[in-house]
Amino acid sequence: MNRAAVLGCHLDGLLGGSRLRRSLYDRYATWMIRRQLDQCGEGLWARNHRAISKDSNSRIFVGNGVIIDRDVKLWLSRGSSLYIGDNSYLANGALILSQQEVRIGKDCSISWHTLIMDSSSYQIGYGDEEPEIRVAPVLIGDHVWIGCRAVILKGVSVGDGAVVANNAVVTRDVPPGVMVAGNPAHVVRENVVWK
Ligand SMILES: CC(C)(COP(=O)(O)OP(=O)(O)OC[C@H]1O[C@@H](n2cnc3c(N)ncnc32)[C@H](O)[C@@H]1OP(=O)(O)O)[C@@H](O)C(=O)NCCC(=O)NCCS
Repeated sequence: MNRAAVLGCHLDGLLGGSRLRRSLYDRYATWMIRRQLDQCGEGLWARNHRAISKDSNSRIFVGNGVIIDRDVKLWLSRGSSLYIGDNSYLANGALILSQQEVRIGKDCSISWHTLIMDSSSYQIGYGDEEPEIRVAPVLIGDHVWIGCRAVILKGVSVGDGAVVANNAVVTRDVPPGVMVAGNPAHVVRENVVWK
């Protein structure tokens, strides 16, 4: 992903303060975030020093060239893990909750105010079932674009190259190379190419 292009799309990030002040802050934020990562490739760029909330024994692995924009939140419960692949971009306001495992592949664009979570948060049951917290890993493939305000729920796998339209609520697996939209999300286009 071309960083200049990303910033061009997210001009709001350059407003509201001098470039110098912003860039000094970004360096500080990147340093703070890097210290909390279990593995970090080259070229991390973090723009929020409070992005990570991490319980004991949780682990975060970040590849090369990852951008973590302003107001991103990464919340990890005890023993959980989060993987973010090379050149993936987490836009302003993205929220990722890992109670077990969330994996984001390479070259992904996770847009503004998306929510990715791998658990039900509360215990839930139906009929005679004992209520329980339902947890299942979320796996996002390579080169996936998740549109703004989309929600990706527990147990979902999103195939390589897929596009999730804005505001979609994804409750079931997404095949590679399709676009899904709606609530619940369904396939609206096939053979999608995006860049
Ligand atoms: C994803 C997107 C680019 C698709 O645009 P497109 O390729 O021009 O496709 P269309 O608008 O023709 O939509 C294709 C179909 O999906 C439907 N669709 C598209 N987006 C939808 C959405 N968010 N919710 C529900 N349906 C949607 C359209 O109604 C259309 O349905 P139809 O086949 O019944 O007519 C477009 O939805 C979009 O611009 N979303 C916002 C992207 C975003 O979040 N950007 C943030 C910065 S990264």
